[in-house]
Amino acid sequence: MNIIKLSAINSTNDYLKILVQQQHIEEYQIVWAENQTSGKGQMGTEWCVDSGKNLTVSVLLKFYSVNIEQLFGLNIAVALSVAQTLDFFKVSNVTLKWPNDIMSDNRKLAGILIENIFKSTGDVISISGIGLNVNQVEFSANYKATSMSAVVGKEFNRDEILIKLIEHLKCYVFRVKNSEYELLWKEYHDRLFKKDVAMMFELPSGKQFSGVIKGVTSQGKLEVEDESDTILQFGIKEIKLLY
Ligand code: BTN
Repeated sequence: MNIIKLSAINSTNDYLKILVQQQHIEEYQIVWAENQTSGKGQMGTEWCVDSGKNLTVSVLLKFYSVNIEQLFGLNIAVALSVAQTLDFFKVSNVTLKWPNDIMSDNRKLAGILIENIFKSTGDVISISGIGLNVNQVEFSANYKATSMSAVVGKEFNRDEILIKLIEHLKCYVFRVKNSEYELLWKEYHDRLFKKDVAMMFELPSGKQFSGVIKGVTSQGKLEVEDESDTILQFGIKEIKLLY
């Protein structure tokens, strides 16, 4: 594994993004920081975790003549590889909360931020940022967060986890490049958080309603069946899951 290990950086995604624009970088180059001073989460949020206890890594992937299905498949592949790694280390009840949070029961264990650089040739350089809570056991009450250590009740060796994670990532990315979307899609749905479970949702207007998650479309929209049996589709900022 090619790892650049840093004690502190603003964001591993930003670091790798700059690096790849300055020099030739091999696929699967990893950047791992013990501490991120401006770690980035999805939708402009911050990713704030304790220094030295977790995995905050970015991995470089390359896609040639990319199509939209591949890029969407990549999101699923990264999420599934984290989930499979957690299974391997005996973390219980790992599910994927749409769009791609990794959960154990009702708590978030890991998050993914994928940033793509589109080349004029049609090739895409993809930076997959993964924040996995490993040995941190205290979290702000504002977040429904947890870690591998909190779930399993022991400390983990982070190097071993990273090795397994990259091993799984390579298998899943191979499947994306091989266009095996149907099977990936099935695996994603088999792991989908609260699928077929009645729960409450909130719209941006503040209106709440009861419904059931039925799946995710190939465009990445969440499908929710409401009480009148109508299937509604929502984009990322269009619905909140109340759980
Ligand atoms: C989320 O909001 O769930 C996504 C969190 C992604 C965090 C990771 S940590 C490594 C990489 N570098 C960043 O700045 N963010 C991602």
